[in-house]
Amino acid sequence: MKIIDGRSLAKEIKSEIKHEVKKFVKEGGKVPHLAAVLIGDNPASQAYVRNKIRSCERVGFESTLIKKSEKITQEELMNIIHDLNENEDVDGFIVQLPLPGHIDESKVTLAIDPRKDVDGFHPVNIGRMAIGLPCYIPATPNGILTILERYNIKTEGKNVVVIGRSNIVGTPMSILLSRKSKFGNATVTLTHSRTADLVSEVQRADIIVAAIGIPQFITSDMVKEGAVIIDVGMNRIDDPDSKKGYKLVGDVDFDDVAAKSSYITPVPGGVGQMTVTSLLMNTLKAARKEVYG
Ligand code: GUN
Repeated sequence: MKIIDGRSLAKEIKSEIKHEVKKFVKEGGKVPHLAAVLIGDNPASQAYVRNKIRSCERVGFESTLIKKSEKITQEELMNIIHDLNENEDVDGFIVQLPLPGHIDESKVTLAIDPRKDVDGFHPVNIGRMAIGLPCYIPATPNGILTILERYNIKTEGKNVVVIGRSNIVGTPMSILLSRKSKFGNATVTLTHSRTADLVSEVQRADIIVAAIGIPQFITSDMVKEGAVIIDVGMNRIDDPDSKKGYKLVGDVDFDDVAAKSSYITPVPGGVGQMTVTSLLMNTLKAARKEVYG
């Protein structure tokens, strides 16, 4: 059993990106510039965005944070997106989700210029991903592919069971792993809340991608000996022993499952660490105009 060290892998990749930025700028390229739009004061969103901005600084990117009250109107937000689309100095930008209830999230996603959609949420990027064209791959699936690649975990011919069909994780993950590519060529089963017999689907998986948002849902009886476990969950559960009163756990019961697995990602310190590096990779691609020329 090997515990995947997302923290040190993310550090390694950030240092590679920093090196690439230096090289690109030395050759006359512009300093990559990421903008982030943060609406309201959801503590988790604030923490994620802070981390994204801090990571930009660490790798030598320029960054801009646009912070607005949760009372913003749809029109005001659309104007901000329009300005960012037009701003030639900004290579890529994100609008942190979730948005307040009165804002139409899909209108927001559709308004972002696909060339600057470094989150990879726009249907143009998702469509390009589905047919294997250059695109921005969403952060979490891209982070998982990077883990598989760097740990040399083969996917070809393997039975992969993805649990959860969200637009951000489960759906793109199932597309990417079944694609005809080096870290694809798997036989993928995408399971969800209406799956008839989830346990037996998971039991035959060589690789499990758990993205359901239920704390410690996957237990050892559901896991085949030697399976690879990728845990995307990020759940807060009460922990009276901790100063904060809670702790972070994944969708997998790590202590129960680890010994049975060949590789497993911990929470925290696994997949979550890789999402920011994926965003940085996409922003570098945007600055280099690698996807859309
Ligand atoms: N909220 C949770 N994950 C993400 C992400 O990857 N991008 C954005 N924009 N919002 C998120």
